[in-house]
Amino acid sequence: KPGRIAVVGSNMVDLVTYITRMPAPGETVEAPDFEIGPGGKGANQAVAAARLGSQVAMVTKVGGDIFGENTRRNLAEQGIDTTHVGTVPGKSSGVAPIFVDPQGENSILIVKGANADLSPADVDAAEETLRAADLILMQMEVPRETVLHTVRRAAEWGVRTILNPAPAAADLNVDDLRDLSFLVPNESELALLSGLPTGSEEEIEAAARSLIARGIGTVIVTLGGRGARLVTGEGVVRIPAVRVTPVDTTGAGDAFIGAFAHFLAATGDVEGALTQAARYAAHSVTGRGTQKSYATAEVFADFCRSLPPSA
Ligand code: RIB
Ligand code: NA
Repeated sequence: KPGRIAVVGSNMVDLVTYITRMPAPGETVEAPDFEIGPGGKGANQAVAAARLGSQVAMVTKVGGDIFGENTRRNLAEQGIDTTHVGTVPGKSSGVAPIFVDPQGENSILIVKGANADLSPADVDAAEETLRAADLILMQMEVPRETVLHTVRRAAEWGVRTILNPAPAAADLNVDDLRDLSFLVPNESELALLSGLPTGSEEEIEAAARSLIARGIGTVIVTLGGRGARLVTGEGVVRIPAVRVTPVDTTGAGDAFIGAFAHFLAATGDVEGALTQAARYAAHSVTGRGTQKSYATAEVFADFCRSLPPSA
């Protein structure tokens, strides 16, 4: 049975340049390719969950420009409820200039634009939708006060929350996240939040445990090509990575989180949902772009059938 997912978060238009190398200051370098596509961590996670079959609603803000109209249309075309997509006249939509190297590794700049105007009042205005959700997803591309407000309100409503603390912020206080159900950082975000090193497997697990000790229910550390770690008060479960040849890793973390939310809402099984999420993210790195590369339930099922039995 499909779950209900709500995303309180960002949308961006990704301006992706495929490069052979970055120019030095003052230098001009020719790049082989360019693509424009829908992105933003919030919208990416929403689209991943929607493609897999969840009922998804998004609380976000676009600018009063052509990018904003495109984003609104794109979300609606994915079957996402856009009732709480606001427009900020006179402001630009969020944009992300992205550079992808020949190994598929990415560097991202974000300009928040209208995302910076998503306020706690917008969250309150969407209360009916948010209360009806099985899970609420958040990232850090909208104002922090809006994220913290959502975490608190969701706890009052008894709705579980997932926070992807990206992009990383050194001054995000873990003590403000006590009401959170799931925190999903990568290694560098985990290091910043815990103030601990994350250079080895042991350090990663210790850093995640320190967050559990400070009151966060469950920490899921995403490690890209090394899989993920599920850390709770009971211990650590290692979720293996699925081996693929990367074409473009941009948005793989968002694919992981959107898929995790989808499978968790549908089945209630955290570990099983993470195993599926690792597969879904692996599939996404085999295609260019972020949302563009996210599989539908059908394509994902085919991909899973193509994997060796151990994966
Ligand atoms: O996580 C990938 C996303 O980060 C991109 O889609 C870009 O828009 C930035 O938000
Ligand atoms: Na991709």
